[in-house]
This record gives sequence, structure tokens and C-alpha cells, in this order.
Amino acid sequence: MWDTLWLNANVATMVAGRAPYGAIRNGALSVKDGRIAWVGPREDLPGDPKALAADIRYADAEWITPGLIDCHTHLVFAGNRAREFELRLNGASYEDIARAGGGILSTVKATRGASVEALVDASAPRLKALMRQGVTTVEIKSGYGLDLETERRMLRAARALEKVSRLDELGEHGVRVRTTFLGLHALPPDYKDRREDYVALVCEEMLPALAQEGLVDAVDAFCETIGFTPAETERYFESAQALGLPIKLHAEQLSDQGGAALAARYKALSADHLEHLSDAGIAAMAQAGTIAVLLPGAFYALRETKPPPVEELRAAGVPIAVATDCNPGTSPLASPLLAMNLACTLFRLTPEEALAGMTRNAALALGLGHEIGTLEAGKAADLAFWRIDEPAELAYWMGADLLEDRAFAGRTAWAS
Ligand code: NIG
Ligand code: FE
Repeated sequence: MWDTLWLNANVATMVAGRAPYGAIRNGALSVKDGRIAWVGPREDLPGDPKALAADIRYADAEWITPGLIDCHTHLVFAGNRAREFELRLNGASYEDIARAGGGILSTVKATRGASVEALVDASAPRLKALMRQGVTTVEIKSGYGLDLETERRMLRAARALEKVSRLDELGEHGVRVRTTFLGLHALPPDYKDRREDYVALVCEEMLPALAQEGLVDAVDAFCETIGFTPAETERYFESAQALGLPIKLHAEQLSDQGGAALAARYKALSADHLEHLSDAGIAAMAQAGTIAVLLPGAFYALRETKPPPVEELRAAGVPIAVATDCNPGTSPLASPLLAMNLACTLFRLTPEEALAGMTRNAALALGLGHEIGTLEAGKAADLAFWRIDEPAELAYWMGADLLEDRAFAGRTAWAS
């Protein structure tokens, strides 16, 4: 007997290769032990609903989608960078500010002074905002510590946020958190003339220690002129690979460093940003199965003008994910739906691609394609229920309140 059966639902399964959105109109979806037990057209239900499920609910012709997956965020940090926003409005560039010791390093200063509890308190409202728009899985990067103690506190805060959400302290009944160690994010000022020492510290001490403590689900680096060179990045990938950790990379955001191709050589889960991605990078990603994570919030906030090569990524068959990149510097964005809207408006994704980018392909970018991202029997019952008439509305509205409810492992937050 199933635990819960939803009837009268339009279900956007997001399974590829079926109808647009993998849609099933007048569908039914059931849950058993936190997993999807059955999904299909209501008329195909294998019997009388009352005999099939303990609890029957009516979705009133709403749309059910997979819970949204924000696969690239830096949402654990202290302080904010509103002052730099003003500086940029007055003409300073992101690189100018970074070179003058602001940017990432100003958030490092604030974050180094914060306890795990303070980081959880500062970050919980951002996580809650994502959850209020249907997010059931979120990736959170470290990278504002740049020393072992602070990186550890950031990763612990990320793990703690998952627990807090399960204890209902956020009032939303659960979210899955995946942690990423972003050891090579910026060079700490005290290593200014000792780059190699910092890279060695990250590769030989910080990463192994944090991985051993179970705090690292994947690694990431910022491969950029104002970040780390491809050679430094490669050394870090070697260390990650030796520890069996999956790899992600901030690549080709501000310039073409060949980062995506490097990441692909290490069979990276994803290469992210990609505005300056070359044809060679695209081909390497396609061959390696590396997901392209597009971050239109950063493109918008930095008022960039060169969009990522979406048409070429499509033609090469590289799956495209979309994420908020929620961070205090380049993307103070805590709305997955607005990220989808920006991906359509600025990058010309279709609304269906934008939703696939926040569900099916985002799951792949986290190595969780077997577990979440589409509505199929056996996957986790992480669901979003929307007050919409058609799924394209999710990417179409800006700032609207569309979420009726969300379910994490089959358990709904608000509605009975
Ligand atoms: O994804 N580019 C590097 N990392 C972040 C920005 C971090 C920051 O400016 O605080 C990004 O855009
Ligand atoms: Fe980022």
C-alpha cells in the first residue's frame, strides 16, 4: 500500500525524450517510504485509489515538478558587499575591486570572524528563500575562509543547515545539501608572494583533512586571471582525483583560460559560468559528459555582454544546467525562478530548457542523476507543487509567488 497518492495533477516529469516537459496531464503520482512509487496518467492507475494508498490528495489541476535543484551556490558567508555594488555602479569593474583587495577577500575577512552558529544564522534566510521557491536540493561551496579553520566552519555550517531544515526550524521540512570545497577561490593576502605555498597548503593539507572529516562532496576552483592558473588548478584536480572526489570548475567566466577542457580531462561533473567558452572547450565537455552550468545572475549583476555559447552547447549535446550562484559579490540572487527567467531572457534558453536546467541537468551536475531531478518511480519524492496553468510560467513570471507547496522525501511542508 502506498503512503500518499496525488490525483488531479498535471505532472511535469522532466524525463527527456517524451512530450515537452515530460508532461502527463491529469496524472497521478504516489509515494512510498519517501520515494516515488508510481507516476503516470490517472486512467492507468493499477486499481481503485482507495485500495492503493493510505492517504489520497487532490492537486486541483496544479502542476507538480521535481523539486528544484540549485547546483551552484556560495550561500554560506558573513556580511554583504552592497558597497561594492555602489562602486561598480560608479564605474569600477569586478576585477578592479578584486585587485584592490576587495571582492572575494572582503567577504573572507567577514567570514573569518564568524562562528559556525553565526554562519548558519546569516545563511538560513537565504536558504529559506530558495526553499520557498521549491528548492529541495542545494549545493553550497566554501571558499570564503582560505584557511583550514574557516573553510571547515563554512562546510560545517553548510552541513548544519541541512539538519536545521530537517528539524523544521526553517519551517519547510527538509532540504538536501551537497558541499563543495572551493579551496582555490582567491589567494589569501598573506600568501601574496607565495602562490605555490598556498596551492600546496590547499592540496596537501586542507583538502585531505576536510575530506577525511566527511565535509567534502566535491571540489571546485576559480580558474581565472584574478583566480588561479590552469597549472595550479590541475595540481588541485590531481589531489582531488587521488582522494576520489568529484570535480567542478568555475571556468571561462571573465576570459578563456582553457578551464573547461582541463576540467573535462579530469571527467568533471560540471564546468560553470562559461561565457568565454571556446569550441575546443565545448567539444571536450561533450566528450567527457561534463555538464554546462550557466549562471545568469552573475552575468546580469556584472552587466556582462558576452553570453555563453548556448547554441553551440546545444548542437554538441552538452546538457545545460542553470543555478543562482547565490553569493555576496557577483550574484546576490536567492531566487531559482528568477535565475530561470534570466537564463531565458539573457541567454535565450527556452522555458523548458531552463526548468530542465534546474531539475534533470542540475542533478547530473551534482552526480545525483540516479536519485533526483526527474519524477520517476524509485527516485526521491522531492516535489514542487505550483499554482500555474502551464509549465512555461515558471520561467515567465518575475517575482511572482507561484509555489503552492513542496514535498521533501514525500513529506509536504504546508498543505495537508
Ligand atoms: O561564482 N567567480 C568566483 N566566485 C563567485 C564570486 C564570488 C564573489 O565575488 O564573492 C562567482 O561568481
Ligand atoms: Fe560561483
